[in-house]
This record gives sequence, C-alpha cells and structure tokens, in this order.
Amino acid sequence: MNIHKLSAINSTNDYLKELYTKVDLENFTVVSADFQTKGKGQVVSKWNSENGKNLLFSVLLKFDNFDIQDSAFLNFAVSNSIYYVLKTYLPSIKIKWPNDIMAGNKKICGILIENSVKNKKINHSVVGIGLNVNQLIFPNLPQATSLKILLDKNIDKDFLLKELIIALKDEIYYLENKKLSYLKKTYQDSLFKINIPSMFKSKNNNVFMGKIIGVSKTGLLQVEMESGIVREYANKEIGFM
Ligand code: BTN
Repeated sequence: MNIHKLSAINSTNDYLKELYTKVDLENFTVVSADFQTKGKGQVVSKWNSENGKNLLFSVLLKFDNFDIQDSAFLNFAVSNSIYYVLKTYLPSIKIKWPNDIMAGNKKICGILIENSVKNKKINHSVVGIGLNVNQLIFPNLPQATSLKILLDKNIDKDFLLKELIIALKDEIYYLENKKLSYLKKTYQDSLFKINIPSMFKSKNNNVFMGKIIGVSKTGLLQVEMESGIVREYANKEIGFM
C-alpha cells in the first residue's frame, strides 16, 4: 500500500490532485493527513475535524475505460466499501443517499469524489473520505458522531485505514469488471430508510410522504409517493424532514 502520511495540509483531495499533475502516481495511492486547513465537504463546503483524531484521506483511482455515464457506480462502490468495514464495528451503519455514511441518525463519514473527465471518460478520480474515529466533541455539529462516541473506546486509525483501502480495492474490482447490477443492488440494500415511509421536503419546500425504493443507474433517488407514482430525484433536490 502506497500511503503518504502528512501532519497537516490544506485538503488531501487538492494535494493528491496537484501531486498527480506532477508525478505519475500508482493506482490506489493514498494521501492521509492528521489535519486539514481547508478540508472540503459536499453540502457545506467545509469539512472540520479535530487534529489527529479522525481519518482524513484521499485515494487516487485510475481508469482505462470508464464512461462518465456510469459515474454513479463509482459512488456505489466507494459507499459500499466504507459500509462493509464500518458494519463490522457498528451494526447500525447505513448509507444515506447519495453518500453520507450514517450510524443511526447521525453522520459518521462523508465522501467527496472528484472526477477528471476527458472525452466522456473518467480517466482518474480522487476519492476523499472523512471518517470520524476518535473525536468526542463536535462543536456546532449536533448531527455528527464518531466510532469512539458509539463504542466507548479508542480505535486504531492506521489499521482502520488499511481495512478501508482493502475494501475499496475489492469494490473497484467489481466496477472494473462491470459487475454494475451487483454494485447497485448491494448499495440499495444498505440504504438509510429504504422501504420505510418517511417525510421528505423538496427543494421548493413541498413536504410529502413517500418511501425510498431504490436508485436509478444514474444514481437518482427513486421515491414512491403515497399515490403509488415513483419519482426520481437528483442530489439536493430532496431531503428528509
Ligand atoms: C461531505 O461533505 O460529506 C464530504 C466530506 C469529505 C471530507 C474529506 S476529508 C478528506 C478529503 N479531503 C477533503 O478536503 N475532503 C475530503
């Protein structure tokens, strides 16, 4: 395993992307940091993490022939890999569409995938993962939790990182070997609130009842309305109440 360990950096994603413009890195090169000064998140554009407590890392994935139209399957593969590892620590782990990893109703891990695309092919991706491991207090983040909060013990971050990389390699193997239905099915099976009637809010503030029944091949969330009609939503078009 090729792991570059840093004590502090702006963002492991940005560092790895920049490094790869200068050096021909091998597939699955990992950059991990104790602290990020400009950690990037998806929804809120920041990812805050206490120095040295959590896993903050990015993995380079290189592809030979990966159509951009299949990009949702990369998200399924990455989410599944984290799900499988964390499930061995905590039974309550679920994937909240599109890629928040939840322990019960709280977020324990976030994923930020940045693709480099040329001629409708993804030629490489940088997969950034922020996993809350040993942090106990999350100022102003009531929805966040960590392994230590839930297990009441310190977790070995280096060992966990290795487990995550091995699981990621397994899932990317399925992606490269076009086991796309398998990746989608296993992702769906692990989804937060799948088949459970829930309240949603659309981006124009409509509140409605529905139940998640799956995801499309392009990663849209499929929600069955009370009327029986199934609607598909893109990221940020819908949220739980
Ligand atoms: C999210 O908002 O859910 C995604 C968070 C992703 C955070 C990780 S931490 C390591 C990597 N480097 C970054 O700047 N962001 C990702």
